[in-house]
Amino acid sequence: MSIKAIKGFQDILPERAERFARLEAVARDAFARYAYREIRLPEMEFTELFARGIGGTTDIVEKEMFTLTDSKGRAMSLRPEGTAGVVRAFIENGLAVSEPQAKLFYGGAMFRHERPQKGRFRQFHQIGAEAFGNADPLCDAETIALLMDIVGERGVDVQGIRLEINSIGDDACRPKYREALVRYLKLHEGSLDEDSKRRLTTNPMRVLDSKNPAMADIVAGAPTMGEHLCDACREHFDGVKRYLDAMGVQYHVNERIVRGLDYYTRTAFEVTTDRLGAQSAVAGGGRYDGLVKLLGGPELPGIGFALGIERIEALMEMDDVDMEKQRQDALIALIPIGEAQRILCAKLATRLRGEGIAVELFSDNRKLSKQMSRTDKIGCRYAMVVGEEEVAKRDIVVKDLREATWVDLLHEYKEAIPLIESGLRVLERQFPTQSIAIKSENMAEAKSRTLGSFKDLISKYVDSRADLPAWLAEQFRAVLEDSEK
Ligand code: HAM
Repeated sequence: MSIKAIKGFQDILPERAERFARLEAVARDAFARYAYREIRLPEMEFTELFARGIGGTTDIVEKEMFTLTDSKGRAMSLRPEGTAGVVRAFIENGLAVSEPQAKLFYGGAMFRHERPQKGRFRQFHQIGAEAFGNADPLCDAETIALLMDIVGERGVDVQGIRLEINSIGDDACRPKYREALVRYLKLHEGSLDEDSKRRLTTNPMRVLDSKNPAMADIVAGAPTMGEHLCDACREHFDGVKRYLDAMGVQYHVNERIVRGLDYYTRTAFEVTTDRLGAQSAVAGGGRYDGLVKLLGGPELPGIGFALGIERIEALMEMDDVDMEKQRQDALIALIPIGEAQRILCAKLATRLRGEGIAVELFSDNRKLSKQMSRTDKIGCRYAMVVGEEEVAKRDIVVKDLREATWVDLLHEYKEAIPLIESGLRVLERQFPTQSIAIKSENMAEAKSRTLGSFKDLISKYVDSRADLPAWLAEQFRAVLEDSEK
């Protein structure tokens, strides 16, 4: 019997892996623009970290962790999320003291023992970010803007997503709200489902998160946190909205957002979609001003988010995000026929790859027709068949397997020059005496240097790639000559 993967643990095949990588690259780019630095953390922690950090009565800690016990009897769990681990590392490595305003990002596998379904897995992947030491609502707005820069128009641009924000109050106002909520829920206790009855005593705000349609009316009539916010929390939330407006980030206030983890205070947000069935959240996050202290660190606020890579990737697939562009611009199929030509092609492949060109060397000696049909499958742009005839004639036909030509690409680059020039003019106006990068030089010099090197780049590109087939044929002849020496 063959061995299968574990239920809820997925293989990510190349086509999906390319979308994963694209999302990760877009995220890295955005993190750099917001001055976040990467942190890499263990995938397993002592269970107590999650129990304390996420909350002992949350679904995650109560029933979703993969836990094992070490030889000393200590329980350890695969991480169900990243925030608790980041906070532990932030405290344990002294960053809370040396860099209390650290802004950190991370990515990787998370594990939750949930019932697998569309968009929900037992091993899944997140990209997350955490910003410490800044309690200002502008920091909340920036964190949210960063998330939207990854998933929205400026990032992978998935369609049909919605940013929902809420304030869930703090230690000053939430207990009063909880009391009001429990009073209300008790009035309807007879109609509550089993889960909600249990939550009524353990974690009443989670009742609002019930997915059971039978509970919808009760949830809809419940008192809202918004009505119970204290002045400080209301002011903070107003600030978040004001800054989001200023940054042009569109949002909807949804008073039903409660989040499934206990560490949140004040701002909570989710990016949702109705395109993935029951799994509507593609990203979530919020402020957690008490968590660093709770986990043994100093009193420092924090805020962050995590996005679910599988869910965003599923949307990218539905949107048919053009991954062709992501692939190598020109993958060259190099097809040798006969042993001498195989050696020649091995040399040619080495040379082309050295020039930064992607090459698939067809070394399996199959029929030419089979090889040609494979060129299509793997998305080759050009094919070069190298047989005895080509060697004898010292010439080669470079077959263009697709219609689009390099020339289009070149036009795009050329059109970019005036844009860059105008960008530099703006810089020049703003920094009349100094360039940002090269402080000792004046702007005019820096400008001409930048523009010069860009033009250089373009002309090199034009020279070497404008007529790629001709250039490839030249490389072929060069290798041939080399071999004959
Ligand atoms: P979360 O809402 O539990 O937040 O998870 C964030 C995202 O991970 C979800 O929106 C979803 O896209 C994805 N996700 C969660 N569970 C699964 C699953 N079983 N299968 C596939 N995707 C899943 C957190 O984890 C917080 N640590 C976020 C945060 C960071 N808050 C502050 N900082």
